[in-house]
Amino acid sequence: MSALAIIGGSGFSAFPGLEVLERKPVETRYGTTSAPLVRGLLNGQPLWFLARHGPEHRLPPHRINYRANIQALADVGCSSIIALGAVGGIHPSCAPGVLCVPDQLIDYTHGRLHSFFDDETDGVEHVDFTHPYDESLRQALLAAAAEAGIALRAGGTYGVTQGPRLETAAEIRRMARDGCDLVGMTAMPEAALGRERALRYATLAFVVNWGAGLSNDAITMAAIHAQIERCADEIGRLLAVLVERRPGN
Ligand code: HPA
Repeated sequence: MSALAIIGGSGFSAFPGLEVLERKPVETRYGTTSAPLVRGLLNGQPLWFLARHGPEHRLPPHRINYRANIQALADVGCSSIIALGAVGGIHPSCAPGVLCVPDQLIDYTHGRLHSFFDDETDGVEHVDFTHPYDESLRQALLAAAAEAGIALRAGGTYGVTQGPRLETAAEIRRMARDGCDLVGMTAMPEAALGRERALRYATLAFVVNWGAGLSNDAITMAAIHAQIERCADEIGRLLAVLVERRPGN
């Protein structure tokens, strides 16, 4: 059966409105997932939910077992993944509060287990990653936002940093020169592993702060959490409409 999965990031270790039917601990040949997979109903529609940073948000971005997470979702029959991600805004149009469905990414991470093709038993396959996000899932997100009356930035380049520290002002200036509109820490290797397992993958990013050096305000966790709370209602409404479109099928 092909199913839809939502991977929740910061602020979404649980998912508001999700009726939980089952919590399924999953062990894969790549290890254990960040949290038990949750099988549930959102707006009456079946889906799987996974808390990327663990149930209590204890896993930093570079310690997440992305391979186990993606393998487990593939193993339970997911064909499509909507990844939620709190991000910093770099482009002037990406102010805190903006929701965005990026269409490109640049990977600045290092030292993460980033491929299923990792030793001689796996062989070598170079997957096409020209367009890292699945266009049909992106369009489903955009259509759901339009239907729900929620403003969304369609497109943008997500720069993925190693973290867990935030960036320097010079790093953000370099990322802006590189063409990044958003900065976050978790889209890679998650997106590439999804592609290696032939899963459709799209990100719904929500801007929770300006990138380092782009505002006079210090970037604090308190301010980030306050902004996540302000975005949560719109994200919940958007996803409730999205699941009715059954994009997993
Ligand atoms: N940088 C990297 N990741 C982030 C940020 C940021 O400013 N905000 C939220 N996630």
